[in-house]
Formats: sequence, C-alpha cells, structure tokens
Amino acid sequence: MGDVYTVRLNPVGVEFEVEEGETVLDAAFRQGIALPHGCKEGRCAACKCVLNEGEVELKPYSTFALNEMERDQNHVLLCRTLVYSDIEVDLLNFDEEILSKSIPVRTFGAEVTRVGGDARIAAVWNQLDGVMDPELDESIVDLGFVEDVVIGAEGRVDVAFRLPTYWCSPNFAFLMADDIGQAVRALPWAREVHPQLRDHMFAEEVNRGAHLGLSFAEAFRAFEVGATLEGLRETFLRKAFQRRQEAVILGLRRAGWSDAAIVTADLATLDRAVITDPEGLRQKPRYCEILLARGLATGPSDLAFVTLEGEAIPAAGLPLHLRALRAVRINMEANGALCRGLLDARYDEGPREAMASSRPACGGHGASAGGCGSCALQTAPAPAARDAGASLAM
Ligand code: FES
Repeated sequence: MGDVYTVRLNPVGVEFEVEEGETVLDAAFRQGIALPHGCKEGRCAACKCVLNEGEVELKPYSTFALNEMERDQNHVLLCRTLVYSDIEVDLLNFDEEILSKSIPVRTFGAEVTRVGGDARIAAVWNQLDGVMDPELDESIVDLGFVEDVVIGAEGRVDVAFRLPTYWCSPNFAFLMADDIGQAVRALPWAREVHPQLRDHMFAEEVNRGAHLGLSFAEAFRAFEVGATLEGLRETFLRKAFQRRQEAVILGLRRAGWSDAAIVTADLATLDRAVITDPEGLRQKPRYCEILLARGLATGPSDLAFVTLEGEAIPAAGLPLHLRALRAVRINMEANGALCRGLLDARYDEGPREAMASSRPACGGHGASAGGCGSCALQTAPAPAARDAGASLAM
C-alpha cells in the first residue's frame, strides 16, 4: 500500500482516508461515505467542491464540469482528484443529514471473534445505488429490490434482487440484472458478478443471461423473442430526461426564477444556481448528466433546458411544456405506488430499511419506499404460458 492521507469534509466535519493513487470519491465509497456524485468520470460536476488545503492532482475531466476559472479558484472534482498530502475541502452540494451521520470504515488490529462486515460490501451497495429501475428512474436500492450482497472467494459477488410480482415483465428484469452486473463489475476487485433474480417466473433465464453476458434475445432464445432491449432503454431514457428536467425547472421556479430566466439559462448558469428544493437539488446533477450524455448540450454556453429534440423552449411555452413533463412524472409515480404496494404485500418485511440484510448501516443511501413500475403495466406471458413456450411481449 502507498501513502495514506486524510480528507476532511467541511462543513460536516467528516474525515476519512485516501490511499495514494486512489481518487477521493473512490476512497469515500470504499469507506461507506455517501458523497454526492453522478458520472464518476469528470463530466457532470456533481462532485465539485473547493479545495482549502492540500496538494492534489486532477485526472482528465471535461471543462464543462470544471472550467478554467473555477480551477484557478481551487475548485476540484472529487471523482478525478488524487491527493499527495492531507487535504481539506468545502462541499458545495451535499445532504447534511446523511453526511453528518457517515462514519468512515477504518482498519484496526483486532482479534476476530465472529465474521462481520466487509468494506467491499459497502462498495457494492454504493454501486447498486446508481442502478435505476429503468421505468421509474429511481434507485433499485431505494426501491427495496436489492435483497442481499454476498462477497465470495476470489472476487465473486452475488447480488440477490427481487421484484414486486412473480410475473413482472422479464425484459425489465433483464435490464436491471444487466445493469447490476455492469455496475458491480466496475469495481476493480470484482472478478465475477452474479445478479440473482429471485422469486420470478423467468429467474433462470435472466440470471443465466446476465451472468454470461448474453443479449436479451439470446437469453430468451427458447421463447423466440428475437428482439433487443435498445428500444426499451431509449424509451426509459427519454422519460428519465423529462422527469429530471421537470424537477430542476420546478426547483428553479421555487427559488424565484422567472420562466424567461429559466429558458435562457446556459449550463454554466445552471451549474451555479442555488436550488433548495430537495427533489430539484437531487435531480440537478442527474439532469446535467443525461443532458450531456444525449448530446443535447456539449458546453457551458449551451442552453440548459431544451426539448428532447434539442429545441429551445419559448418562455411563453414553458407552462405547456411543464404540463407534458408532469404527465410523465405522474405516470411514473403511479406505477411506483402500485409496485410499492405489491412489493410490501408480497414480502411484508416491515420497514424498508431493514430489508437489505447485508447493507452496512453507514451507507447513507437514503432508503425509502419502493416499487418498480415495471411489473403490472407491461405485458408478459402469464405463468401458465411459460411452459407452452409463448413469445415475450416487448
Ligand atoms: S461525479 Fe465527478 S464530475 Fe461527475
């Protein structure tokens, strides 16, 4: 192991260690500290903060996320920051309640009397926090879908998850299993990842396909699906874009912005905007991430709010635009409420926080009620149709 330094987070006073060669964000995840983040690749600015003290070096990043002027003023992106001394940073975006409760995982010399936690488990849960239910655009952890994480020998990771019903649409289940596999495989030590869908009529096909890296059509070859999930992914991404955009616009309105100011704001202005509304605050970096990923903006002077087709929104047209976004959100929320009820009725495990048995208590994931939006409103073969080799509806 190389040198180890201390990172102090202001104003919450949390301290944790970072090893030489490790980014501050990775070190935080390793120790169960819930730092705000989005892309983890220096593109979205969600992890931007101000360096007060210490020597650092930044790995390559986008100048949209951190422009030259900000860099000159000691702003850094924690997902790109390598440290060479103890450092102290002022956080810009953070959830004070979650962060102030974070206690870093530390290594102490001790005699083992029973097998307990593993920092790698916290790291897996942090990765899973970023896996979304594709239709609801909510974390599968917050939704209560992830049941358990088990670390085995030689970097094997088993992630058990379940859905609200036995017949939830298999294409949705497959998407989630695929995303779980990708998210956990991003951990350098995770050599073999096994998403394990439980209590589902197509669990065998989903688990086998996700483990072997098969496409949906390959995994469900016996059912002659012959389709890809790309179209479905695109539909969900469009909905996620609309839901996030609405939250940010409403957050700005609540912060006193006029419609004219909102529709003419560029990305740099949005980046500096102070939003106090919790949902708007949560969605701001997520919105910027999806806006950039879809190529609807590429630099700080591009418009922050455009339609899905990349067109500007006139100020007079914003109320109508918001009405369309609201319809998308209400639909997603209705699906979510339905699935929360189904999940609760199915598993009846009491408070959602207690459901994931292996989640470390300090993960700071903000668990809430859950549901998937992927079950009841999508068509899938009835259980009886399975053995008859029915085609799967997309
Ligand atoms: S998480 Fe650091 S820039 Fe996106």
